[in-house]
Amino acid sequence: MTMHSSIPPVIEAPRSAPNRPRRGRTNTELYAWLFMRVSGVVLVVLVLGHLFIMNVLDGGVQRINWGFVAGRWASPFWQVWDLLMLWLAMLHGTNGLRTVINDYTRRDGTRLALKTVLYTATTITILLGTLVIFTFDPTLHS
Ligand code: HEM
Repeated sequence: MTMHSSIPPVIEAPRSAPNRPRRGRTNTELYAWLFMRVSGVVLVVLVLGHLFIMNVLDGGVQRINWGFVAGRWASPFWQVWDLLMLWLAMLHGTNGLRTVINDYTRRDGTRLALKTVLYTATTITILLGTLVIFTFDPTLHS
């Protein structure tokens, strides 16, 4: 009979941030984790619906022009659909990238710089997109 060693293998701990200050006793990361799941499920409906309507349904992408957009955004239903899709995709993608940045950056300065770029881009895109959805003027087209 062969003897098996009872010494467990040494598994290195994943890279953690032992020196980074623990920020209070809040459940922010739990809510962020939950948000990724909930927004993901909602995005499946919004994005697949969007793709189907824009690219498959009667005429597909060929029929999309100024008039088509004007017609859609005349309805509060599609305004809210597009607004939700914009906000959820942006916040979901941004939170996902925040995780990637936290996982992979080694230097504090790099982490801060990348997050600054990320949050700036997110803020501009959400504000601009929201503005366009609600201020779109169908009469502007010549
Ligand atoms: C179509 C519906 C979608 C579903 C069901 C979905 C689902 C998920 C889930 C559950 C996670 C968390 C993974 C984890 O914590 O390990 C995740 C991560 C992520 N998602 Fe989505 N997502 C969707 C759409 C999107 C969109 C539209 C974007 C971009 C705007 C996006 C960008 C990301 C990024 C960057 C991550 C982080 C990846 C990582 O941690 O390695 N997702 N997604």
